[in-house]
Amino acid sequence: MMMLWCFYRCLFFVSLLNNVDLTSRKHHGKALILDGIIQCTEHDEFSYQEMISFLPLCAHPSPAKVLIVGGGDGGVAREVHKHPLVKEIVQVEIDAEVIEASKRYLPFMAVGFDSDKLTLNICDGFQYMKEHKDEFDVIITDSSDPIGPAVNLFTESYFGLLKGALRSGGIICSQNGTVWAGLDHVKETMEHCRKHFTTVKYAVASVPTYPSGQIGFVVASLDERDLTVPKHRFGEKELGEMELRYYNSEIHSASFVLPNFVRKVLQ
Ligand SMILES: *[C@@H]1O[C@H](CO)[C@@H](O)[C@H](O)[C@H]1NC(C)=O
Repeated sequence: MMMLWCFYRCLFFVSLLNNVDLTSRKHHGKALILDGIIQCTEHDEFSYQEMISFLPLCAHPSPAKVLIVGGGDGGVAREVHKHPLVKEIVQVEIDAEVIEASKRYLPFMAVGFDSDKLTLNICDGFQYMKEHKDEFDVIITDSSDPIGPAVNLFTESYFGLLKGALRSGGIICSQNGTVWAGLDHVKETMEHCRKHFTTVKYAVASVPTYPSGQIGFVVASLDERDLTVPKHRFGEKELGEMELRYYNSEIHSASFVLPNFVRKVLQ
């Protein structure tokens, strides 16, 4: 969400106010700074991209066909491509300008678009899922949240759409806010998700330059299964070859362990 949001803001400011600061900073690498606030940095974007990708991929015994909804910066495609069992990736992004901005400013993320497993469609993800039922093993949602009174209505029907586009045994993962800024919203989201999915879990990853230093994900499966235990465990050699800097099998399980104040609300 934040990644996409930064691009919309970026495009807006580039074209209208020229108020974007794409600086190379010593500690963060390349950073996108708007109104003096860091939106994303080269230094820590990998934790978000790796976790939103590898949590559902490794929870699935054979994640052959993957759908990415949103993800216009290319970072999620970059990570999904690395999983050895992934054969085919479809990505649906509604805004071609986001992709162009990423290619221009954030090539270390846009490199994901070079994947030979990837088919990129510029279209509405909702419409796409309505027309592609029963097709995907894993669906990853990396998009901005809707705002306003219809949010909850949207959320429940959205999880219904995801369910319809999954093959049996399918798993989803969505970027889903933070427990520090919107615990009630997380709780509601999980309740909506439970109407369509049998197993629903919440995981967190640390992203130091995000406002609360953390980002959360809803991971859910059609079947009853322990999503906290990875079906594939990568050894040191594989982790090195895949250039994974955050995700490993121990982090996978640990990311589902939540503090007491969160556990109490989400259970
Ligand atoms: C979680 O993601 C869904 C789908 O994008 C969205 O409808 C919902 O509002 C999100 N919830 C939170 C807490 O971010």
